[in-house]
Amino acid sequence: MDSRRLHVTFPSSSTKDVHQFQKALPDLSEPAEIGCFSLSYVNETRREFHDDARGLRLLLRRPSYPLSLDLKEGFDTYKKFDEGARMNEHLDHFLHWILLHPQEFLFRKQSHKSRKKELVVCVRGSLTDLMMTPYEKNDGWIFVVCRIDGVLYLTKFETEQDVYRWENGTEEKENFMYWGYKFEQYMQVPPEDPQAFQGPINNSEGFHSVIYTKLSDTGILLVGEMDCLDPKAPPTTPAPFCYVELKTTKLYPGLDLSVKQTFLCGPKLLKYWAQSAICGVPKILIGFRNGDGVVEKTEEVATVKLPLLAKEASRHGLKDSVWKQEVCLNFLDGFLKFVGQVVAKDYDKAAYKFEWSPGKSGVNVSEEAPGSRWNFIPEWYLQSRPGQKVPVKKVREAPHGNYGENLLRSLI
Ligand code: A3P
Ligand code: MG
Repeated sequence: MDSRRLHVTFPSSSTKDVHQFQKALPDLSEPAEIGCFSLSYVNETRREFHDDARGLRLLLRRPSYPLSLDLKEGFDTYKKFDEGARMNEHLDHFLHWILLHPQEFLFRKQSHKSRKKELVVCVRGSLTDLMMTPYEKNDGWIFVVCRIDGVLYLTKFETEQDVYRWENGTEEKENFMYWGYKFEQYMQVPPEDPQAFQGPINNSEGFHSVIYTKLSDTGILLVGEMDCLDPKAPPTTPAPFCYVELKTTKLYPGLDLSVKQTFLCGPKLLKYWAQSAICGVPKILIGFRNGDGVVEKTEEVATVKLPLLAKEASRHGLKDSVWKQEVCLNFLDGFLKFVGQVVAKDYDKAAYKFEWSPGKSGVNVSEEAPGSRWNFIPEWYLQSRPGQKVPVKKVREAPHGNYGENLLRSLI
């Protein structure tokens, strides 16, 4: 067997029929940070793992208006990490963390096993893409899942469209990407430190939070890159509720500088919400830039407010901006349950490929041979993965509960 199409699909009706997901919100338990790691730049295709929080930055608030932050600055010294290499990392850094913290992993694994519920290991970006699927009009996706000792490992693979985009990126797109990273630097580095403030942008470094949450019955162990820590969060605030997501978006000329602009970010708001809501990041700080890449104003929005802004957008007839959180979460919930039912064989027998594109009504599934190109679990993990022989100790639900406090101390 190399590849065998399975005659199952999700959802039973079309993905375009969003009404099927318009039911009560599924239960999303409060996300808890159970650990963290940092990544640093080695070269344009390799990053180094650090079992600590060295990549975490503190948010440096500036006056929200008027501002003049030129995001174009320093583009000539940009150290860009290769997009293909980023995707090829799959779950590697996360698996590395699991090997170093076996009890944290085994405790969740055991707890789901005893309740006969699934546990999924993945990165936050995969969940964001899945949540946005009912509203996605341009980008398809490929996810591959395998089952190891009962646990589901899920990762994204590049589509032909992704590869085409990486290989044919326009200068304009490169600029937009750079601007997002430059904004992060402006909000994280004190202007009094000109060397750091004007230092080259490097989009491969970062701080990653390991989070456990539960969507209805499915346990999710996810890893998400956190942009910064909020110094205003009370010191006892448990992670991830002390983090802030940074975003940039175009400022629409001629409009009041009011919250109106926030929902005029349009369909982007869905991404902002999905990305932050799934891992409990409570706040998004948006930098509004003009067409020339200069941020003129910032605004902070609570993640929970975004679905309300989307509702407001629909009242203003902004059709592209209409989305509902229950549709996204019910889609994700249904899809993860579907995956749990389909992925029957262990990793040494098969991996399962789930493929969807906006032109298709449902997800195509195939069973792939274990040694095929869809294999993404490295041998070093298979050899050393935390197994049943290790005694399972009960660990605290959120060992980094006072993380915010510790980090603040170390950063200020
Ligand atoms: P903006 O979102 O402000 O444009 P994130 O916000 O997810 O932490 O990502 C930081 C920045 O990385 C983004 O800033 C954007 O510049 C760039 N980026 C991330 N994902 C991208 C994607 N899929 N396409 C283009 N740029 C992306
Ligand atoms: Mg960001």
